Amino acid sequence: MKIVRSVHELRDHLHGQNRIAFVPTMGNLHAAHLSLMRLARRHGDPVVASVFVNRLQFGPAEDFDRYPRTLQEDIDKLQADGQVYVLFAPTEAEMYPEPQNYRVNPPTDLGDILEGQFRPGFFVGVTTVVLKLFSCVQPKVAVFGKKDYQQLMIVRNMCLQFCLPTEIIAHETVREPDGLAMSSRNRFLSDTERRLAPQLFQELSHLKNRLQGGERNLVTLEQQAVRALAGAGWKPDYMAVRRQADLKLPTPADLEAGEPLVVLAAAQLGSTRLIDNVEV
Ligand code: PAJ
Repeated sequence: MKIVRSVHELRDHLHGQNRIAFVPTMGNLHAAHLSLMRLARRHGDPVVASVFVNRLQFGPAEDFDRYPRTLQEDIDKLQADGQVYVLFAPTEAEMYPEPQNYRVNPPTDLGDILEGQFRPGFFVGVTTVVLKLFSCVQPKVAVFGKKDYQQLMIVRNMCLQFCLPTEIIAHETVREPDGLAMSSRNRFLSDTERRLAPQLFQELSHLKNRLQGGERNLVTLEQQAVRALAGAGWKPDYMAVRRQADLKLPTPADLEAGEPLVVLAAAQLGSTRLIDNVEV
């Protein structure tokens, strides 16, 4: 595996390749990331991965400074796994040469709801860095996880709007045996919090079952789930039933017609904020 820190070197290594499959990450790689690499391998060749903790997508009060940076371990994992041909681990100056303030602004109806409401500017940061990374790597396909459902949708929408030639492939959410979605942030959970953490997925699954059982009062369902989480010691940000197609609120007609839905949640456990979702 080649490890490159500059766009210049990256271009040298990828010269002439036109079937590149790309997996952008912020590092601290776990089994879900490696599974994304394997899916990438099925859709293109060579596989390029990136590790870059993108300051722009962290709010001033968020965990940019404590975000786990484990580049050597990440390299060892990727090397052992053997799927990735080039690892792009750019420096901040390489991704954001000074002076610069170009930004991608996702439309407010996608970018300012749910995660965007609780993390203002988050999707500006994500789309700006993803556009830059796509521009560096020029992938034919890129793989994103459904765990970050809204991110996946917004990146897809950005590709459509900017006519980018990259096809976005979705990877199912990878979970621990007890249901907790794998995340680099799980390592911040204390033992007690870790035991409680699967409740987020349990509440999502419970809500999904009630929807599938014919329950139609979405507000009640959402409130009950929020109350259950709060009662167990979580600080829920949201629990929301939305349309898969555009993350808009489903209408009664949508519910009757069996419109594909997704239930999305974010909640804080101690100082760690977790997100998850289930498709219905
Ligand atoms: P990061 O959180 O490192 O995630 C990298 C990719 O792995 C994302 O597409 C994410 O959805 C996926 N992923 C993480 N945990 C997953 C899980 N349990 N199941 C399935 N997929 C999972 O997401 C980011 O980085 C950044 O926002 C990034 C896109 C790299 C831009 O900075």
